[in-house]
Amino acid sequence: MTGRRLGRGVALVGAGMSKFGAFPGKNTRELFVEAYQEMTASLDKGFDPAAVEAAYIGNFSSELFEGQGHTAPIMTDWVGLTPVPATRVEGACASGSLALRQGILAIASGLYDVVLVGGIEKMTGLTTDGATDALATAADVTYEIPAGFTFPGMYAAIATAYMHEYGMTPETLLQVGIKNHEHGALNPKAQFGQRISAIMEARKASAARKGKPVPTWVTELDFLHDPAANPQIAWPLRLFDCSPVSDGAASVLLVSEDIARHYTDAPLHLIGTGQASDTALHGRSTLTSLPAAKRAGQIAYEMAGVTPADIRAVEVHDCFTIAEIVATEDLDFFKPGEGWKAAEDGLTTRGGARPVNSSGGLKSKGHPVGASGVGQVVEIFHQLRGSAGERQLPGAPNIGMTHNVGGTGQTCVVNIFERR
Ligand code: COA
Repeated sequence: MTGRRLGRGVALVGAGMSKFGAFPGKNTRELFVEAYQEMTASLDKGFDPAAVEAAYIGNFSSELFEGQGHTAPIMTDWVGLTPVPATRVEGACASGSLALRQGILAIASGLYDVVLVGGIEKMTGLTTDGATDALATAADVTYEIPAGFTFPGMYAAIATAYMHEYGMTPETLLQVGIKNHEHGALNPKAQFGQRISAIMEARKASAARKGKPVPTWVTELDFLHDPAANPQIAWPLRLFDCSPVSDGAASVLLVSEDIARHYTDAPLHLIGTGQASDTALHGRSTLTSLPAAKRAGQIAYEMAGVTPADIRAVEVHDCFTIAEIVATEDLDFFKPGEGWKAAEDGLTTRGGARPVNSSGGLKSKGHPVGASGVGQVVEIFHQLRGSAGERQLPGAPNIGMTHNVGGTGQTCVVNIFERR
């Protein structure tokens, strides 16, 4: 399905997100209002809500997490947009990107000129066990879950296969977590917006205050090697290899290219979009790559007419540290089996040759699953417009990419944006 083009150009003109984290007193509609208000404030030439013609809202499972279904019109109602058509879009952890795709297609088809896209999830109302069960419904409940798999378990299987095939050890995974916490420490919206060294020092100070034995960790690796601080979740994945259970919302405004400058002098152009699907993990011939991510990437690159070397900012779906390494290979930034070496050599840090997840990624920023894909777009919006504050990537990046994965890769979406 390569060689396809959009019927007309689509621009990204506004973006906003709530803080990601655990917010016991807030539901998704309140988080969505925060994201929407920040999005409207980002429209530097002002905004008339009456211009919005449709809304697509990514949400994995508000039924299981909040006991509330039918969430799209609730979101649009709370920001005063009824009666515009509001459609909920579900694709597990890729729900947000699927909502974005619906917005892109609706504008490209000529049906609408102005579309609101949102992503929402409120996960922390459940216990971790409850959230694990809810998330498990995005796996194959006939073949995978009865065999004892959870999401950490499935990504642990991917990590184990990768280590077996390419000789990586769990040490490299720790480096990905350290790097993403370093990036997230510069992101005020991040759930765990602290370097691991800061978390470590806070734990030592807390022990001292309480008169308990003070741990002897000196380096971040001392801390990460300590099973009391960084317990195994599903070998080889430990706590700091996992994205957290999160609440959050994100929102962007898409418009047809010809009217983009009515909203801002700095529109971003959607130049490539790819989506692909795959069999569940248990039925695949390889565990060390997500074929749907590769295919979605190839379609997006081809549509955009750019190569991996042209991508200057990228947010990839690091639901677990191994997922980031695999993503950097699936997107052809590194050859198969070399992503882990690149991570170890520091190439994916902010100052490296190929920075990945400047936002802190899902690991540090948080992973409210239905919001994550739209949250990635918010980061690329800021990086390409030079408004990412302290975490701004050097060199004024002009082309950025998002890579969002549903489940273990049954749904994958890749988008490419350009500042002209
Ligand atoms: N990374 C680092 N620290 C984390 C963390 C994470 N992912 N998750 C929780 N913590 C911290 C908490 O802040 C808390 O710290 P504190 O004691 O200083 O307050 C401590 O660890 C315990 O938190 P808790 O929520 O009780 O942890 P948990 O053991 O119940 O849950 C996981 C940890 C990893 C099992 C859970 O976050 C998880 O399931 N993550 C994966 C989610 C997922 O599968 N998403 C979909 C991906 S496809």
